[in-house]
Amino acid sequence: MEGPGILVRASGPLRGSVTLQGAKNSVLKLLAATTLAQGTTTLHDVPEISDVGWMSDLLVAMGATVERPGAGTLVVHMPADLVPEPPYELAARMRASIVVLGPLVARHGWARMALPGGDDFGTRPIDLHLRALEQLGVTITVVDGVVEARAPRGLVGAPIALDFPSVGATENALMAAVLARGTTVIDNAAREPEIADLAAFLNRMGGRIVGAGSPTIRIEGVDELSPADHTLIPDRIEAATFLAAVAIAGGEITLCGARPDHMELLTHKLGQMGLRTSPCSEGLWAYAPGRLAAVDVSTLPYPGVATDYKPLLVAMLAVASGTGIVTENIFSSGRFRYIDELGRMGADIRTEGHHAVISGVERLRGAVVTAPDIRAGAALVVAGLRADGETLVTGAHHIDRGYEGLVDKLAALGADISRV
Ligand code: UD1
Repeated sequence: MEGPGILVRASGPLRGSVTLQGAKNSVLKLLAATTLAQGTTTLHDVPEISDVGWMSDLLVAMGATVERPGAGTLVVHMPADLVPEPPYELAARMRASIVVLGPLVARHGWARMALPGGDDFGTRPIDLHLRALEQLGVTITVVDGVVEARAPRGLVGAPIALDFPSVGATENALMAAVLARGTTVIDNAAREPEIADLAAFLNRMGGRIVGAGSPTIRIEGVDELSPADHTLIPDRIEAATFLAAVAIAGGEITLCGARPDHMELLTHKLGQMGLRTSPCSEGLWAYAPGRLAAVDVSTLPYPGVATDYKPLLVAMLAVASGTGIVTENIFSSGRFRYIDELGRMGADIRTEGHHAVISGVERLRGAVVTAPDIRAGAALVVAGLRADGETLVTGAHHIDRGYEGLVDKLAALGADISRV
């Protein structure tokens, strides 16, 4: 068996409420942004997940201090003399590490780091990140898998038109432009809620950014930023995971702290499948009155249905009545690997290029399966809620990269689940 596993038995109906963690995809960028100012930053609602640990290690390796004084709180002390060169092993470990490049070169005039690795989703280039930084006057060289960025006389604001609304490239450009001389306008910017969260944090640090969350972001560069405190937005992908769980197992749950406005297209799609949801004072309420109905879904940049929801949607369709087609439009390949694992559980799924055709079955059957990445791992776990016998999801360390206490939270809703 590959590392820790999660054992799931058929469960449901689920009942109760869970409190969402802060957004993984937000905190990683906020941690990168802490390098922009000397002093102490306090972040709230930070989940205890391994990706946060790795990003913290990366900051520490450059000279910062990171503390966890209590649950959910992370304190970063940023020195004046940070060395803008994260060690190879840490940079290569996680794709999101590339977002330190922009802020480091903006503040220190140079930065050097390994090209990022991360989830095995096929090739994930960083050309858009590098081109955006070049627009701001940064000289980039890439030699033997190491990227070096130089701007000895500082960055200069410029128009940046992204070929594709890449989340990471938008964030890198934003965190560089905030300290550039003059005005930067990013066009075709990614609109994810995590981008607006990052801009809100940067503005709190003294940045002058308008339009984050829309396709055009305008940044007036400032000379200096100062540290700020910030509370993360809730994790919409964790929220989607619990929606998938209740959709598959049946029941009625409340997601405390959820932001329904961050997941409108998803809840609309789930509504077509028969899951009822409604904003409520605590966050989001969800009720699954019966077996789901199949729908077709395409992933798109925000506000479209996120690619990160896809494995969860495939798991839901695997037990829905009828046939649904899921089309991937964000990543070129390789994000269907978990489908073989669902097949072991009796799911009826064919893939063809960017499409997965899923014919729902009444119930799945338990099997030993392997989590290939964070979200696919979570999808296998929730699929196990409607699988006869036992499902053992191995490779749970992938799930730990993005979820704090997924097993405990599902158990609190009444799922028959444990870590082994
Ligand atoms: C972020 C999220 C990830 C999510 C993805 C898309 C984090 C830590 N990760 O990843 O969970 O699945 O957004 O919503 O926030 N591309 C290029 N060149 C580039 C950059 C990207 O071709 O320079 C391509 C990628 O290969 C991919 C697409 O653009 O096909 C989207 O990538 P991007 O939006 O950049 O995703 P990430 O920021 O890596």
